[in-house]
Amino acid sequence: MRLFIAVLAVLLAGAFSAMVAPDAQAKGMEYVGVKECGKCHKKDKEGKQLSIWEESKHAKAFENLGTPKAKERAQKVGVTTNPQESEACLICHTTGYGEPKSDFSKRFSMEDGVQCEACHGPGGEYKARKTMKKISEERGPDGKGKSATAEKTGLKFPGEKDCKVCHAQERQHNGKTYKNPSYEPFNFKDRWEKIKHPIPS
Ligand code: HEC
Ligand code: HEC
Ligand code: HEC
Ligand code: HEC
Repeated sequence: MRLFIAVLAVLLAGAFSAMVAPDAQAKGMEYVGVKECGKCHKKDKEGKQLSIWEESKHAKAFENLGTPKAKERAQKVGVTTNPQESEACLICHTTGYGEPKSDFSKRFSMEDGVQCEACHGPGGEYKARKTMKKISEERGPDGKGKSATAEKTGLKFPGEKDCKVCHAQERQHNGKTYKNPSYEPFNFKDRWEKIKHPIPS
């Protein structure tokens, strides 16, 4: 009987860890915030993605919701609450809006606006140097190839349609439709030119 219980315990433990495994993985896919990415993506020889981003409007997307202009824009679409606290604005002016709190690391800050991970996906699983280098190798010298590691760890290489989730006249969220009060036609080529941040070859 004792042996039976011991075996059962081992089996249960096995089944249990198999059950929690997906959770542990999901935990890895958390938003770590731009400061984390910036640690390794700031030097000239790396392509100084951090400062390119800091100088872009994406970095100010949350801050700008606190201006008188934002209040005006909000009224235009019938939003009378503080834009910095309104889902109607935050969905496009922050990163990962609406995801559960457990998907954000403690260092993540919504105040940093539209961050790296708004476009590249949550970085918890891919941000380790070893993983990043592996992805880079898999994509090859022209940086255009497919990377199985990128897919597994959730690193995305966005394109026009990903921009247009926010650069759109409106966006759906939890069954509601929110209008973009500042919409302007979006030409990918011109806009990308303003924020591109290549790794120097
Ligand atoms: C569907 C996504 C979306 C929603 C929802 C949205 N915005 Fe924006 N907002 C944008 C984009 C994209 C831009 C940049 C406009 C451009 O250059 O095309 C922008 C720009 C702005 C600007 C800067 C405009 C300028 O002329 O400098 C303000 C202010 C602003 N939004 C306020 C708000 C407020 C307030 C709300 C909520 C009532 C809101 N936005 C909701 C996507 C959105
Ligand atoms: C510990 C250092 C480190 C951190 C933290 C880090 N990266 Fe990287 N990343 C690298 C290195 C090294 C490379 C490979 C650079 C090369 O090939 O020259 C890289 C490559 C990349 C690439 C290009 C992959 C390719 O081959 O096309 C992207 C995109 C990227 N990182 C985004 C991010 C984002 C977003 C974050 C934050 C969530 C982040 N990185 C955090 C070190 C890091
Ligand atoms: C999570 C939503 C979101 C995504 C995804 C997004 N943007 Fe933006 N973008 C914004 C918001 C919001 C602003 C306006 C910020 C402000 O002025 O306060 C903006 C502003 C800009 C601006 C500055 C306006 C200008 O033309 O000078 C450029 C350029 C831009 N985005 C390019 C892009 C490109 C290219 C992509 C895709 C690769 C992209 N964006 C994806 C939300 C987004
Ligand atoms: C508005 C969306 C957007 C934001 C924000 C953004 N990126 Fe990117 N990033 C892109 C796109 C689009 C590409 C080009 C993808 C491709 O080549 O297929 C790219 C490419 C890269 C590359 C690879 C460059 C190369 O030469 O292969 C790195 C590294 C990178 N991003 C890092 C970052 C870091 C770090 C941040 C934040 C500081 C950031 N990105 C913010 C959209 C974004």
